[in-house]
Amino acid sequence: MQTAAPQKIYLKDYTPPAYLVDSVELTFKLAPTTTRVLSRIAFRPNPDAQSRDFFLHGEQLKLISASIDGVSITPEITATGLTHTVPNAPFVFEAEVEISPETNTALEGLYMSNGMYCTQCEAEGFRKITYYPDRPDVMSVFTVRIESDLPVLLSNGNPAAKGDGWAEWHDPWPKPAYLFALVGGDLVNHPDRFTTMSGKDVELNIWVRPGDDEQKCAFGMAALKKSMKWDEDVYGREYDLDIFNIVAVDDFNMGAMENKGLNIFNSSAVLASPETSTDANFERIEAIIAHEYFHNWTGNRITCRDWFQLCLKEGLTVFRDQQFTGDMRSHAVKRIDDAVVLRAHQFREDNGPLAHPVRPESFVEINNFYTVTVYEKGAEIIGMLKRLVGDDGYKKALDLYFDRHDGDAATIEDWLQVFEDATGRDLSQFAKWYSQAGTPRVSITDSYADGTYSLTLSQHTPATPDQDEKTPMVIPVAVGLLNDNGDEIVPTRILELTEATQTFTFDGLASKPVPSILRGFSAPVILEHDQTNAERAFLLAHDTDPFNRWDAGRTLAQDVLIQMVREDATPDTAYLDGLLALLRDDSLDPAFRALALSLPSQDDTAQALVDAGETPDPTAIYRAHEALTLHIAQHLQDTLPRIYADMMVTGPYTPDAVSAGKRSLGNRMLTLMSKLDGGKQASQQYATADNMTQQLAALASLLKIGKGADELAAFEQRWHHDRLVMDKWFGLQVSCAAPEDAAKVAAKLTEHPAFTMKNPNRFRAVFGALKGNTAGFHDPSGASYDLLADWLIKLDALNPQTTARMSTSFDTWKRYDADRQTKMKAALQRIAETPNLSRDTTEMVTRILG
Ligand code: PHE
Ligand code: ZN
Repeated sequence: MQTAAPQKIYLKDYTPPAYLVDSVELTFKLAPTTTRVLSRIAFRPNPDAQSRDFFLHGEQLKLISASIDGVSITPEITATGLTHTVPNAPFVFEAEVEISPETNTALEGLYMSNGMYCTQCEAEGFRKITYYPDRPDVMSVFTVRIESDLPVLLSNGNPAAKGDGWAEWHDPWPKPAYLFALVGGDLVNHPDRFTTMSGKDVELNIWVRPGDDEQKCAFGMAALKKSMKWDEDVYGREYDLDIFNIVAVDDFNMGAMENKGLNIFNSSAVLASPETSTDANFERIEAIIAHEYFHNWTGNRITCRDWFQLCLKEGLTVFRDQQFTGDMRSHAVKRIDDAVVLRAHQFREDNGPLAHPVRPESFVEINNFYTVTVYEKGAEIIGMLKRLVGDDGYKKALDLYFDRHDGDAATIEDWLQVFEDATGRDLSQFAKWYSQAGTPRVSITDSYADGTYSLTLSQHTPATPDQDEKTPMVIPVAVGLLNDNGDEIVPTRILELTEATQTFTFDGLASKPVPSILRGFSAPVILEHDQTNAERAFLLAHDTDPFNRWDAGRTLAQDVLIQMVREDATPDTAYLDGLLALLRDDSLDPAFRALALSLPSQDDTAQALVDAGETPDPTAIYRAHEALTLHIAQHLQDTLPRIYADMMVTGPYTPDAVSAGKRSLGNRMLTLMSKLDGGKQASQQYATADNMTQQLAALASLLKIGKGADELAAFEQRWHHDRLVMDKWFGLQVSCAAPEDAAKVAAKLTEHPAFTMKNPNRFRAVFGALKGNTAGFHDPSGASYDLLADWLIKLDALNPQTTARMSTSFDTWKRYDADRQTKMKAALQRIAETPNLSRDTTEMVTRILG
């Protein structure tokens, strides 16, 4: 049932709900293809509403019966919902519907994953469960009864009662329907307890399917307890129910979901063990557990008025999980990691056809706006606010936010108002960060005379789809000054750039200083600063700000790469010597050294060439990256084995940040050594590794030099029973394939008996890796474009949300040469013309085509 043009929804059209809900009672009679859902909803007219029209969302539901105040009705039903006349006074609506979780492959609403019933309701999945005002500003108290023979039956809130074949749950906190959750299955729990700051005892559980997963919950549980304590210590926020449940499911479109008291997690975001998970997995799990837990206050207790306000909960919660990870591990390393992600993914989005404001003004399908812009740029905005108002101002504002808005469905205006009220600051210009899309460019010129150093900053933001005219933003630029000896003569200070061009002066300086600009990546902007390689090498050696020290090396590397792409040049020895000095500096954190030794991604290099007005050739970029890696390996040759040996003596595996940092540097050494020793060391590491971090790094090093066939087979033999490990096996082969082989390798893997497109993790393992193999994806044959298009067309019929998300692989098509453009455009058009293409994918492909 495909209607013509999908309808666009606008922020400016927001109107309050016509009816509010005082309470909801739901009864679920679980059955794979014939689940019955009985609802009893107490409505009352909203005094603030502009209309009295009664409309309940509902999709793909079979209505069995309905009544109002006990009198049976026959409502008018469309593809999107139900209407009927209602009393002009409080009334009770009741309905019974039938749904089919087993055939629900979209993984939205109530569905089944390996015999387990589970739900995903954000953003608009509840309407696939029953008829309801499925919008976040309608909040209500839920009571849920589940009837099933399955042993474990869970829902939100506190357990109320249970008996043979049924269980009841009551959630005392009013919530929007998107936070509803239900789980039914044959599950085992990893239990624990937590005592809150006011002395309340909370039961904690992580639920998994019986099998080897039981051993993999301890780390997640420890992370949960750390998160609960951290939110009390840092934000003064205490948990508010008697029980907190986490359930791991194998089939899930995203990372995890913050349903009240019943978080549902992609098993990849919670299960961990040294033998099966890498250091990166451990860190990600800790961050996602924290993120979902933190949503209990920023998202659940204070939710969003409408989906345009998504960044209100996501930007703030990402910012909070970033602070948490920094506190648990290393602030310097975390900031660099976040900047890498932001530049690689958010800048790419913000500079292409999918650019949109952090608070979008319209959408067709809200699922398409769970983006790096809403999440990561949304978090950057919070960081800038904190930098501008200071730590005390931030604390005051947050206390006021929780005080004033607890129980509300709030807006960005509410959020900014608490900062204005708490700090007295006018944020009207700052608010533009929420409405203006695109990455601002900040360019720098400077001069020195008579003891005064002048720094002139200019800003401009390029046009983005639907936004041609841009006006100046408030940009906090953290600056410090160094003298020729590398001593810091002016410590970090925040310059507030608010005009198109502004000059800032520093007095009383004996000579022209070396500026260190945008310290700590103080704003999500692109710096245009014509520095010489010598100045960059100087900052790489001396900057006291760890972020800028790393960034100086990164900019140098990018310059070197671009020279190599353009003219086959040999790399600047200033850069190679700088790396060697850094590598040998044992006073530096190994994790930091590992980051400093890694190169910008090939996609970053492509974007840098675009910014320089050139057409990037992915094959040439790939060759330059390979050549530079070899040069680095040769230049550092004598030091690699010593550092490798130092780093790899970590004793029994622990996932803590210090040990992980050592392994990260050690594995970086291994990659470089493999370029010179034919994989000898890597084979040995593979054979002796007792943890996945070292095993996988060894395998990757081998695959990248065209070896490792035996190890790959042994890996499969050993891990074929473990889905999450097999996702790594699928992904690694594609990401390490030579560009000309990538499409072939991916196509072959789709024929493997363990490949299934019904599992989003498996699909992403293969096709996410294909996108990540930049030269392979853009191989001149166009084979990868065709393969991905074929599979997206197949997947769309089953899972529109994941299809739409994966279609973003094509979003850089306009960057490239005519031949590649033609091929990518043809692939996109082929997707667009697929009969019955989902609304999700239609919107994305249309926007990408522009
Ligand atoms: N709200 C979830 C989070 O940020 C993400 C999510 C969105 C999960 C939509 C599922 C569906 O943690
Ligand atoms: Zn979130």
